[in-house]
Amino acid sequence: MSKTALITGISGQDGRCLARYLLDIGYKVYGLIRRVSHPDLSFIEEMGLQDVILIEGDLSDSLSLREAIQKSNPDEVYNFAAMSHVATSFSQPEYTIDVTGVGVLRLLEVIREFNPKIKFYAANTSEFFGDAIEIPQNEKTEFRPRSPYAAAKILGHHLCKVYRESYNMFCVSGILFNHEHKSRSKTFVTRKITDYIGRLVNDKVSQPLDLGYLDAKRDWGWAPDFVYAAYLMLQQELPDDYVVATGECHTVREFAELAFKRAGINLQWRGHGVLEEGYDADTGRTLIKINPEFYRPAEVPILLGDSTKAREKLGWKPSVTFIELVHMMVDADIERNKERDCSTNETNYSKAT
Ligand code: GDD
Repeated sequence: MSKTALITGISGQDGRCLARYLLDIGYKVYGLIRRVSHPDLSFIEEMGLQDVILIEGDLSDSLSLREAIQKSNPDEVYNFAAMSHVATSFSQPEYTIDVTGVGVLRLLEVIREFNPKIKFYAANTSEFFGDAIEIPQNEKTEFRPRSPYAAAKILGHHLCKVYRESYNMFCVSGILFNHEHKSRSKTFVTRKITDYIGRLVNDKVSQPLDLGYLDAKRDWGWAPDFVYAAYLMLQQELPDDYVVATGECHTVREFAELAFKRAGINLQWRGHGVLEEGYDADTGRTLIKINPEFYRPAEVPILLGDSTKAREKLGWKPSVTFIELVHMMVDADIERNKERDCSTNETNYSKAT
């Protein structure tokens, strides 16, 4: 008998990637989607998700969650809905704690009341480790959160353990390091860079790209690999928490250099601090500028994951290397910008993202 899953945050990168995978293996998939004035459902066609049944609802509203659970009657719930942008969590801390943290409590309570046998996956984050002393980080590493977002996610993580131990519910927390895809929102640094390159190559930008802290190190993997790990976590006999990571980290600067190189541009750096610039070594044209608006009140300097437990217990491993990931994202944005007229929409957002 085929299984049924409810995916919250279906329109986000991870929701889409997991929906694609679950449909491919025969699941019936429901997706929780927030009501917005100008809905953009183009991801359905882009990812071939026409079979997903959409339900309107919001993590800040228990009634809508109850209805979504009743309507979908799922075997598994994957909670990807969140205010997931670290920088934004500093300007909207209450909202972040409510949706990203308390939202998990609302879902768990609804599941407990409706059917405590439903398996629950909580999408969690390497941001737990913050300014980590221990490198690499694993399931036992101390949590040192550096943003309201990280604090909110830690609440959800602890609630999973509490519901597991108090009510014997199957709740797992996936501590996922950064993971990207061509469908990544442009507010995250990887896609912000590759989107800019796509426009640049197609003569659709005139201004340099504004970035913040270039020396942050991240362990970047490929999103479909990471949501597959989430699926595997719910197929185990017993619920447990797992770190998912590639075990390799690079700076934002390195990501940019490699991405520009893919587009045939030799990116070099000149200047220091806020005056530093990235430029095209062949033409001298400035391509990247530092804008302190994109600095965060507290930065997370290095995230590097040790996913030994996931590799040994789930049999999981990444299938895409860092270089392949960068190339896929750059190629997709170059292609996308050939097709569409994006000329009025430059990548520098009016507020820090
Ligand atoms: N977004 C953004 N925009 N980040 C920038 C910029 C910029 O212009 N310039 C430099 N950065 C730096 C950030 O300061 C951070 O150190 C790094 O690039 C990565 O930023 P993001 O791509 O926004 O991702 P993140 O690491 O903060 O968070 C992502 O990964 C987490 C898992 O570790 C998100 O996907 C989170 O939701 C996720 O939990």
